[in-house]
Amino acid sequence: MTIRKENSRQIDLKYHIKQYRNPYETTKQITSFLNKKINLKFKNFLDLGSGSGANLFYLKKKFKIADSFGVDNQPTLIKLAKKMMKNKKIKNIRFYLGNIEKLNKSANILKNKIDVVTILQVLSILDGYKKVINSAIKFNPKFIAVSSLFWDGYLDFKIRVDFLKKNKGGIVTSRYYNIYSIYKYLEYMKSKGYKKNYVKKLKFMKNLKLKDKKIMGSYTSNLNGKKVLITGPLIQSWYFIISKK
Ligand SMILES: C[S@@+](CC[C@H](N)C(=O)[O-])C[C@H]1O[C@@H](n2cnc3c(N)ncnc32)[C@H](O)[C@@H]1O
Repeated sequence: MTIRKENSRQIDLKYHIKQYRNPYETTKQITSFLNKKINLKFKNFLDLGSGSGANLFYLKKKFKIADSFGVDNQPTLIKLAKKMMKNKKIKNIRFYLGNIEKLNKSANILKNKIDVVTILQVLSILDGYKKVINSAIKFNPKFIAVSSLFWDGYLDFKIRVDFLKKNKGGIVTSRYYNIYSIYKYLEYMKSKGYKKNYVKKLKFMKNLKLKDKKIMGSYTSNLNGKKVLITGPLIQSWYFIISKK
């Protein structure tokens, strides 16, 4: 299936910048989950699909991580990440432009130098997870930590949302919101040598409101007495999975 890529004008810069001031609940929850499994202090991170670098910045401030790297394929976001690091006088976090589904050169240089690869809120927007996981594995990290939409069963959902223009206009952009079978993901990680896996479901603390529910914005609602996150027609089931060698 071909998917129209977002161009730089369609990037929601506010989404990325906001996180520097207010890190997302997902970032806080996965990093504290991760910190319970390994002491993050002085660890080397590689963040794939790093956006504007807010996750690495949070890890640096809160957990004092060591030399770390971010890769994203959007030049605007890489430029912004570099600018933010300069403004905040952080020297040991570097950002590179690259396709995380095809990392080779950097993997040769950084092989065995990365403790943890993080892939946060990225897998669901890709066509599948195998290519990016294979990229991560090339660095030979002890841990691979992901946050994504997963299904607690043997079902994979391929969901493509086309954003349409009124009247005679066609598709403006398309985005995946794929949901993957947890069990298949774990089987894949185990087949790649990541035998120990820790799974945690994201808990929603805050209520999120949204005026226009016809767009792909997110809001919380109650379902069978539980708080759920809804985006368009989807109930978002966010999970964190930490895989260890
Ligand atoms: C939803 S954002 C998440 C950003 C960040 N990880 C976070 O947690 O806020 C997904 C990011 O993945 C990047 N991305 C998507 N496909 C990519 C690819 N093939 N190579 C590199 N980056 C990619 C996007 O540019 C975007 O910054």
